[in-house]
Amino acid sequence: MRHIPVLLNETIEGLNVRKDGVYVDATLGRAGHASALLKILRDGVGHLYCFDQDEDAIKESEGTLREISTSFTLIHDNFENLDSRLSMYHVDRVDGVMFDLGVSSAQFDDGNRGFSYRFDANLDMRMNKDTSLTAEKVVNTYDYAHLAKMIREYGEEPYANQIAKNIVKRRTLKRISTTFELVDIIKSSVPERILHQKGHPAKQTFQAIRIEVNDELGVLKRGLKKACSILNPGGRIAVITFHSLEDRIVKNIFKELSDEGEGSRFVPSEKKNALYRLVNRKPILPTSEELIQNPRAHSAKLRIIERR
Ligand SMILES: C[S@@+](CC[C@H](N)C(=O)[O-])C[C@H]1O[C@@H](n2cnc3c(N)ncnc32)[C@H](O)[C@@H]1O
Repeated sequence: MRHIPVLLNETIEGLNVRKDGVYVDATLGRAGHASALLKILRDGVGHLYCFDQDEDAIKESEGTLREISTSFTLIHDNFENLDSRLSMYHVDRVDGVMFDLGVSSAQFDDGNRGFSYRFDANLDMRMNKDTSLTAEKVVNTYDYAHLAKMIREYGEEPYANQIAKNIVKRRTLKRISTTFELVDIIKSSVPERILHQKGHPAKQTFQAIRIEVNDELGVLKRGLKKACSILNPGGRIAVITFHSLEDRIVKNIFKELSDEGEGSRFVPSEKKNALYRLVNRKPILPTSEELIQNPRAHSAKLRIIERR
């Protein structure tokens, strides 16, 4: 399935793009948002730096962006290294950074990457194929307690203990190496009625393993703080999240940096002079029209912060 950019207009408008500004797309994917950003930037004056830890995303997007302009630079790296990679280009301040978290439809639908419970593939789930921790290693080497905690916390899966128990039991017979073997174990761990409910029974466990393999919550905390620290006055950060764990991290970091939620009528805020302000108090959600066109946008939330 083609990747349809989520909350596209809301994100681009939210970034308040200046034609001569320096911007970062921290999660290039198939360049949906990056193309829209690049179209606004004036050739040779504004510039867009695009990060993706997946080499396929970098290779596949170059042609698309080149058809628009040459005012961009592609960087194959994790966005947690955003500041050090930008400084190699003598950039230490930017006017906006956007994050569209998670995996792209291209990655999800690639039957060889192991992200999807819908295709039988090797248990991989690495966004960056150069890293060493794979889903196969997680499933075959983590002990019961570690697996159960990971599935419960990162998947918010109510049957985490049972799934972890059955993973450990199954692997004593044979190493678990494919997505369908794992789906089979998960299905055998949940009550019959769950199998007939809407939504795939393996969704939460697959999400948990993907988060673990790519340290998604850790890199988000580090990358987002770095992005905030390199903003020019008036510069903005826009973040699209797809589940509550990510959204909570963004919400808390933005709250800490801004004066939001601090103080009251009687107890004055100590952060009155906070360096950042929330552009929108509540997250921006997709419209019903967008949801009809793109069901993937279903759980998306957009939060935006500005440096004063
Ligand atoms: C949801 S897709 C982005 C889609 C893109 N906005 C578009 O419209 O085509 C997320 C992309 O970010 C990349 N990604 C996720 N986490 C990353 C990280 N920590 N560092 C760099 N890239 C990351 C993934 O490899 C994937 O290609």
